Amino acid sequence: MVIRRDADLPMLETHLLGRGIERACYRDPVDPERCFKVSEKTSCRQTRRDIVFFERLARLGIESSYVPKYLGAFETETKIGFFQECFARPGVRPLSEFMAQCSREALLRTDLALWEMRGELIEKNIVAIDVHPDNILVVPTGPTDADFRLVLIDGYGTPEFIPLPYWFRALGRRKIDRYWTNHFMKRLAHCRAEIARRAKTRG
Ligand SMILES: Nc1ncnc2c1ncn2[C@@H]1O[C@H](COP(=O)(O)OP(=O)(O)O)[C@@H](O)[C@H]1O
Ligand SMILES: [Mg+2]
Repeated sequence: MVIRRDADLPMLETHLLGRGIERACYRDPVDPERCFKVSEKTSCRQTRRDIVFFERLARLGIESSYVPKYLGAFETETKIGFFQECFARPGVRPLSEFMAQCSREALLRTDLALWEMRGELIEKNIVAIDVHPDNILVVPTGPTDADFRLVLIDGYGTPEFIPLPYWFRALGRRKIDRYWTNHFMKRLAHCRAEIARRAKTRG
């Protein structure tokens, strides 16, 4: 359900967490544990897709430690958005940045953690296709940098008008798997190559 609001939420530059082509993500000034992603209604395909996606997960009671908690959608005259659990705190970094600085042990653990994440997405038919090292946050959970959990903050949903992969698990699985192999693994390899190149130029 999308709640109608009379006025826009306060979008403070000091609370801006990130901005993409279509939308911006702000920390909620009232509740720092929450953030909201907001688009202009004139350009909101991704945000609408996300809302359909997260509302469906909530309706079916599908939860995962990899998926930020969904905290409801809103719209105003000109904007549409939704609230989500916020992970912006010291020590939390995108996977791409983490991989460039972490220990060897942690780097090995990322492979396993990503494989486990892929398994859970498939098992619960959480159709995430735009999985990207920048859309995965590494959240520390223990004393060493190899103690972490992964959270996928963006890249959910499928663009079809009638999203058959949501309803037919075999289609969902094929889609998640195909994008994982064809896109994510390549992006990850590119990320690794870039890290190796930078290490080399540093001497
Ligand atoms: N749940 C979250 N917790 C903390 N930071 C977030 C969260 N969601 C998004 N961000 C930050 O905002 C940026 C943009 O959000 P994202 O959902 O990836 O939108 P876009 O479609 O613009 O890529 C992210 O790259 C990240 O830095
Ligand atoms: Mg993103």
